[in-house]
Amino acid sequence: ANKLVLSVIVLGASGDLAKKKTFPALFTLFRKGFLPKNLKLIGYARSKLSNSDLHEKIKGYLKGDDKTKQEFLDRITYVQGQYDGDEGFQGLEKALQEREKDFQGAPLGRLFYLALPPSVYPQVCAGIKKNCTHMNSTGKGSWLRLVIEKPFGMDLKSSEDLANKLGELFPEEQLYRIDHYLGKELMQNMLVLRFANQFLSPTWHRNFISNVQICFKEPFGTEGRGGYFDEFGIIRDVMQNHLTQILALLAMEQPVTLSADDIRDEKVRLLRALSPVALDDTVLGQYTAAGDQPGYLDDETVPKGSKTPTFATCVMRIHNERWAGVPWIMKAGKALNERKVEIRVQYKPPAASIHGDVINEMRNELVLRLQPDEAIYMKIVVKKPGLEMESIVSELDLSYKQRYGDTYIPDAYERLILDAIRGDQQHFVRRDELRAAWAAFTPLLHAIDNGEAEPMQYPAGSRGPPASDILVAKAGFVKNANY
Ligand code: BG6
Repeated sequence: ANKLVLSVIVLGASGDLAKKKTFPALFTLFRKGFLPKNLKLIGYARSKLSNSDLHEKIKGYLKGDDKTKQEFLDRITYVQGQYDGDEGFQGLEKALQEREKDFQGAPLGRLFYLALPPSVYPQVCAGIKKNCTHMNSTGKGSWLRLVIEKPFGMDLKSSEDLANKLGELFPEEQLYRIDHYLGKELMQNMLVLRFANQFLSPTWHRNFISNVQICFKEPFGTEGRGGYFDEFGIIRDVMQNHLTQILALLAMEQPVTLSADDIRDEKVRLLRALSPVALDDTVLGQYTAAGDQPGYLDDETVPKGSKTPTFATCVMRIHNERWAGVPWIMKAGKALNERKVEIRVQYKPPAASIHGDVINEMRNELVLRLQPDEAIYMKIVVKKPGLEMESIVSELDLSYKQRYGDTYIPDAYERLILDAIRGDQQHFVRRDELRAAWAAFTPLLHAIDNGEAEPMQYPAGSRGPPASDILVAKAGFVKNANY
């Protein structure tokens, strides 16, 4: 891989995603020595910019010493062009040819990172296909890949339309659909945790597990991003993708091997067993002004009177032998009381307790905290130390900071970009996975779009609408007794 002549082309180079995520992740990989020595980056966008204009835009987001930053920026050039037509892409091809011409016979890599709105994907991909795929190299191991970001459509049909258009241009092996949750440390741990621990495997089943919660909370609202958000709402923004990926990895069967396709085969099988989410199993919310936090409708970029949900709780069902009857609860919201992404697997109580009814309120739980402060802990029932015979809930606790100290935990984008460069699609979303995820949410989304359900108001900074807690309790979740 060290011989690779790598060009990373960031399209939409002056946008938010490129500045805040793509370039900083590339920089950290560069600084830590993970990228090939022979590396060049090209920023591409419509605005008229000089190389140093682009460098200025990016610089403030890079973390590291000034010398390394400069070395990195020196490798970035800017090419201006439109997202439709051929001209811009011809200019891009010229720059690529120029960069590659001295390395005939060497393996060439071209990574196109589309930090762009999906509405332009078809024309951009067509432009790339027509103009930028003529790599003048016979070098063995040469490749061209495209990284694309959600939203991949608005529902099953629009997502399939987009997938068809891209599929006519590039085969699945060249398309890397990012879901950055798959790059988070605890998500990467999932297959190890689930399939390397013998005490977990046999109990990972409806006979022992009462309910599972996947919870995403953010303390801030849309903050000027409301115009974008309002088109989608919380279900399309995080549930259909990030939380569904979590569910798939948690609930799927053991893959035959760790190969990308074996893993994704199992995810697809699981996702296809998801029953479409019912309106009755859903609570929607929208935040209102509270304290010094403005309400969703106060965001000037949000259309007046919008009914877009900024909060949702959905109880999902998996129709297979392992999970029949177990509610899988997803909860996600903006402008809530805290920042947390957490998975809570709650076990059933013992079938014949000799410790009285209180045991019903003391449930074993396996908790995986994705952020902040990664942790895996297990709630267990033990005797309270002392003379009395009293049961309490206590914790077996693996907090990453405490246990692994300053061990570096890579940012999700760093890991995924490196995977794309290495050609590993394991943590990217395959087309059939995407289809199954949309199928589970599309009827609900259409019902909401048709006005069949309205969001309940909740004050910014609260836990969301109380109806959500009622739905979660109805699904069988028991709040552990105080201890
Ligand atoms: C994005 C959503 O995909 O994920 C945002 O569009 C959300 O609305 C973000 O804030 C959350 O990502 P993270 O990594 O900060 O949890």
